[in-house]
Amino acid sequence: MIKVIAKNFAKEDKIETVIKLAKELVEKSIPEVGCLKYELYQDELGPRELVILEEWETKKDLENHMASAHFKSLIPQMGAYMDKETEINTYQILTKKCEDKVENEVLNIIAKRKSTRNFKEEQLKEAELQAILTAGIQAPSANNDQPWHFTTIQDKKLINHISDKSKELMIGSGIEPLMKIAETRINLFYHAPTIIVVSGKDDVRSALVDCSAAIENMLIAAESINIGAVWVGLAKFFFTSQEESKKIHRPEGYTPLFAVAVGYKKAESTSGPSKRNQDVKTYMR
Ligand SMILES: Cc1cc2nc3c(=O)[nH]c(=O)nc-3n(C[C@H](O)[C@H](O)[C@H](O)COP(=O)(O)O)c2cc1C
Repeated sequence: MIKVIAKNFAKEDKIETVIKLAKELVEKSIPEVGCLKYELYQDELGPRELVILEEWETKKDLENHMASAHFKSLIPQMGAYMDKETEINTYQILTKKCEDKVENEVLNIIAKRKSTRNFKEEQLKEAELQAILTAGIQAPSANNDQPWHFTTIQDKKLINHISDKSKELMIGSGIEPLMKIAETRINLFYHAPTIIVVSGKDDVRSALVDCSAAIENMLIAAESINIGAVWVGLAKFFFTSQEESKKIHRPEGYTPLFAVAVGYKKAESTSGPSKRNQDVKTYMR
């Protein structure tokens, strides 16, 4: 495989013209025999720098490309609008090709997802909420029992009450780390405008696992539409109070298990996803 990197430096007032010609070159080159990749990039910091990244199966394919009618016609036209000579480098690949890696939109969203703990006040659009709930409902469940119920709470007063009461109960638990969290955390739901309480059906043994699968689906769905979410297990302190958990409207025979805080992300995270231990795989082939 041959890689070509061609750096073009367009004249300030001819950038758009060069882009138009380069796009035509890309369009006409992609169908050529042996063309694996033909892409046009623009430097984010210096828009005059237009780079064409090419990959060819063999050197012969590259030579044929350079002898093609569109190459011979478009390259001199582009050349007329350049500030300086195009820098062209060709490379042979020495390492394994990245194409061996399986990649798609879903896998990228799973890899990108991270808990959001800083929300905007603005409420979600109804369609966004429904998309997230639908993803929860689409989770797998043992025996297809679907032993879940989703209670959406957008009443700020109630959300704050659940947070305050949970913290009070955490402090009362006498468990040191929980007491510390309760004392330092201002709001268990990080002021998210929506919380979704997931309740499990009491007479289904796998309800906890099934509800957890539903939550993971919702977290991924939220990320896929760039909505922030965090699984809030600490809300269980509120749920363990018989009296308090009555405040969570749900059908008879369901017990609240977890909450998920959902809302628009206040700021895009710059730190990337949380670190993962990769040393967790055993193969028995
Ligand atoms: C069962 C469960 C309970 C959780 N409870 C809380 C919680 O109460 N508060 C919180 O901020 N995060 C909570 N999380 C989120 C985890 O802290 C988070 O998923 C983990 O640190 C990995 O980070 P990531 O989600 O950004 O990949 C919970 C996650 C799970 C699976």
